[in-house]
Amino acid sequence: MYNAKAYAASSATSPLASHTIPRRDPTDSDVQIEILYCGVCHSDLHQARNEWSGVMPTVYPCVPGHEIVGRVTSVGSAVTRFKPGDLAAVGCMVDSDRTCPECQAGLEQFCNNFILTYNFPDKHLGGVTYGGYSESIVVDENFVLRVPTNLNLAGAAPLLCAGITTYSPMRHWGVTKDKKVGVVGLGGLGHMGVKFAHALGAHTVVFTTSPSKKDDAIRLGADEVVISKDANQMARHAGSFDFILDAVAAEHDVNAYINLLARDGNLTMVGAPPQPLAVGVFGLLFRRRSFSGSCIGGIAETQEMLDFCSDHNIVSDVEVIPIQKINEAYERLLKSDVKYRFSIDMASLKTE
Ligand SMILES: NC(=O)c1ccc[n+]([C@@H]2O[C@H](COP(=O)([O-])OP(=O)(O)OC[C@H]3O[C@@H](n4cnc5c(N)ncnc54)[C@H](OP(=O)(O)O)[C@@H]3O)[C@@H](O)[C@H]2O)c1
Ligand SMILES: [Zn+2]
Ligand SMILES: [Zn+2]
Repeated sequence: MYNAKAYAASSATSPLASHTIPRRDPTDSDVQIEILYCGVCHSDLHQARNEWSGVMPTVYPCVPGHEIVGRVTSVGSAVTRFKPGDLAAVGCMVDSDRTCPECQAGLEQFCNNFILTYNFPDKHLGGVTYGGYSESIVVDENFVLRVPTNLNLAGAAPLLCAGITTYSPMRHWGVTKDKKVGVVGLGGLGHMGVKFAHALGAHTVVFTTSPSKKDDAIRLGADEVVISKDANQMARHAGSFDFILDAVAAEHDVNAYINLLARDGNLTMVGAPPQPLAVGVFGLLFRRRSFSGSCIGGIAETQEMLDFCSDHNIVSDVEVIPIQKINEAYERLLKSDVKYRFSIDMASLKTE
């Protein structure tokens, strides 16, 4: 065991601050990674502030961060896919039972015994796992991803959550050319959704509450932009979408989007507001529409997504910040003021 520098929340109401955490010495199957960049997901904020207390209560101190890119510093004797000096990435999961039907299907994100990167029981050291707002992390080789060398590293980090969370449902629901696809909420997840829908050839429509993001939405790959507060603009798209991805982090009216779906159209929630959302059933009965959810993606699909990004030159649009600006970044997330993902330059932790 060794000590690593980190940033942690010590309660639901305290700002994140400098902290020291234990990390295990690499076992035979582990990869030790020096973290270079870590993206800032809205889930980090939900978790640090215990907003998901009903589902996943937060254990303090909490070190968030699950969009990790770094360099391998050492590997265990049984590790075959990584060596010191390689680039490596870690997303939202660091382990699972690897034996259940979900794991065998490559859907570790649905394993009953998966271990998330932070705030989950740590079978090695006891306590809970600590995430990427830290200088290093030790992870089993099977949960470490390869980073294509042509990708900018600060921009690649958010692919590990925002990327896979939007890529996976688009693949599952068959987003291709000739499909009309909506993306609701132009934040970290939403802007990746726009890039993927565009790259997959779909006619892509962004729904935003922020008129100032209109030009950016087009630049990111949208064919059309709808200001969702404008009922006339919304009405023009009634009954026309094959698929809509909803990436909104707060309470909002999903029925307004269900009504925009065509026959057999699907609205998938990836946004995770803590409050229940009211669904008007008639919107689903008419036109046999469906309303569903999606959770990150499996390890193999995450690698597929990274390779897709390499082929299509896709990374996240990031504002690189030092770790000392993390509390300010959280306040800006709450104001929908992010263009379009904060990525922490972890070298800033060295001065703590
Ligand atoms: N399912 C999963 O596996 C998974 C994975 C990662 C994250 N998440 C969840 O996905 C959500 C989004 O995460 P993120 O990191 O992309 O957040 P984010 O960067 O803060 O983006 C959220 C966007 O939603 C829109 N929005 C915010 N408040 C709104 C409101 N009251 N009404 C309507 N729109 C609103 C804003 O876009 P506009 O300005 O364009 O309106 C905002 O930029 C979070 O709840 C997060 O926990 C889920
Ligand atoms: Zn996330
Ligand atoms: Zn399993």
